[in-house]
Amino acid sequence: MAAFRLGRILRFNSFFAGRQPLRALSGPSAREASSSSSSTEEVIERELSYGAHNYKPVPVAIARGEGVHVWDVEGRRYLDFLSAYSALNQGHCHPKIVQAMMDQAHTLTLTSRAFYTDTLGGYQEFMTKLFGYDKLLPMNSGVEAAETAVKLARRWGYDVKGIPHNQAKVVFVEGNFWGRSIAAVSSSVDPENYGGYGPYVPGFVIVPYDDVEALERVLTDPTVAGLMLEPIQGEAGVVLPQDGYLKKVSDLCKANNVLFIADEIQTGLGRTGKLLACDHEGVRPDVVVLGKALSGGMFPISAVLADNDVMLTVRPGQHGSTYGGSPLACKVAMASMKVILEEKLTENAAALGSILERELRDLPASIVSATRGRGLLHALVIKRLSNDANAWTVCLRLRDSGLLAKPTHDDIIRFAPPLIITETQLMEAVSIIKKVISSFD
Ligand SMILES: Cc1ncc(COP(=O)(O)O)c(C=O)c1O
Repeated sequence: MAAFRLGRILRFNSFFAGRQPLRALSGPSAREASSSSSSTEEVIERELSYGAHNYKPVPVAIARGEGVHVWDVEGRRYLDFLSAYSALNQGHCHPKIVQAMMDQAHTLTLTSRAFYTDTLGGYQEFMTKLFGYDKLLPMNSGVEAAETAVKLARRWGYDVKGIPHNQAKVVFVEGNFWGRSIAAVSSSVDPENYGGYGPYVPGFVIVPYDDVEALERVLTDPTVAGLMLEPIQGEAGVVLPQDGYLKKVSDLCKANNVLFIADEIQTGLGRTGKLLACDHEGVRPDVVVLGKALSGGMFPISAVLADNDVMLTVRPGQHGSTYGGSPLACKVAMASMKVILEEKLTENAAALGSILERELRDLPASIVSATRGRGLLHALVIKRLSNDANAWTVCLRLRDSGLLAKPTHDDIIRFAPPLIITETQLMEAVSIIKKVISSFD
């Protein structure tokens, strides 16, 4: 049975494909003290045996993280170039965030919103003043916060815009990704996400991304309450719109009395070299959705920011979550935000992002057909070749060289290191990436 299972694992993950024996590794990925008693194969086997197969992880079994590094169960060290999809902007186990979490964990963790606490108001005041909105509504995961924004748009549409009952529409753009709930997959154009999960949520309209005319046509419909988009599409493969698109979107929304909702869950909190990616075009959305790095990787914390005319349409009992806005979440989120501000992570993302952009442009065009990104959110598009180069095989070789990244789709690799990365660490990563890409030439 064990032999059968191992065979299945090896086929599933091609774990040993091109993998160097442990003793051959040197430099940053050399073996270091390991605290785990399981081997990589055992870790993978256990997950496959007892867990749902709803992910296809890169075959590496991580046991520890600190700063920009993680260590696998055998003690090999890697540069983390995914950062849990930008949830770890502050790096792994940032000591100030860990300390805030421990302090609050000994004091008060959860009351539910049945009662007031001495933490929530202070967090809301801090965040609303920082981002310049009247109100903050706390949730947990990103998909919950994005769904909250959609609910707000519908409610505002009925109460303020005067859309007839049950006719409100919310517009999304092709390539959007905001999670995998029934509502989120209902707005997706990726059959991998929505296929087989119908019937879908009605009242969603999907238009092409980066197409102002298509948007113009749909926004004139008086039953449209809101438009939600990511300023840069992360899961779609770090897809940037043309310069000026966000400004035009914002102007069109204003002209048509439609709420502009920016999903900044992946792009926000410094990732692109500004606190919000919308700041690159000086645009102020009506609703901002935050998540991921709002907790510095501790546990799911998300939030929706909006002004009173939007936020106060939701009345007591109509929306909420047991854990959203818990004392623990408030303290962790405050500490996470303070690290971003005090350690100037946004500025670091801008400065090191230009270096990363320049270096990636140097990669051989025979293997890499395009590079794109902003700040420390970048992607490579791997050419479809007759040899074995694709995003997955490149990621396996990167892993073997001490750098972790994950493909998005078959041909795209996203690079999103923690924003605490130093120039020396970045250049170490660049040299690994260059060596690995050239090895396919
Ligand atoms: C832009 C965007 N919105 C929403 C989500 C959903 O966040 P979560 O996985 O925390 O629910 C994601 C997750 O990748 C995302 O990238």
